[in-house]
Amino acid sequence: MSATPQPDWEDLYSQARAVARNAYAPYSRYHVGAAGLVDDGRIVVGCNVENASYGLTLCAECSMVCAMHSGGGGRLLAVAVVGGFDVDDLKMGKPCGRCRQLLFEAGGAGLPVNEHHTLAEILPDAFGPDELR
Ligand code: THU
Repeated sequence: MSATPQPDWEDLYSQARAVARNAYAPYSRYHVGAAGLVDDGRIVVGCNVENASYGLTLCAECSMVCAMHSGGGGRLLAVAVVGGFDVDDLKMGKPCGRCRQLLFEAGGAGLPVNEHHTLAEILPDAFGPDELR
């Protein structure tokens, strides 16, 4: 049995910053990058992908969760999110409400987001899979 992977936060922020450069954000010009540690040790990343219809925009966290499942599934153990207009000066990102819900499904209440918060703190009393069992 292998040990639970531990997050290397500097590496997660670095990968989040790197993927944020790939954001397709011609409308808002706001770049977001997300990087997550999966329980099998993989690092998955995602960037925001905007759309001319605006409302169909995919957030970076959404892209990252899709990458996790597309790459074989698993559970998120830690997530770093960065965002900003200047890709050379990205700040810590705040996941939007919909993304908090997606992260809850993929990592649960204890999921650390940007090192200093857990999902339970930023999405208290969440509706989740347990309600449907
Ligand atoms: N965005 C994300 O990628 N994640 C969030 O949690 C918040 C917002 C993106 C969507 C849009 O492309 C841009 O940031 C401005 O809202």
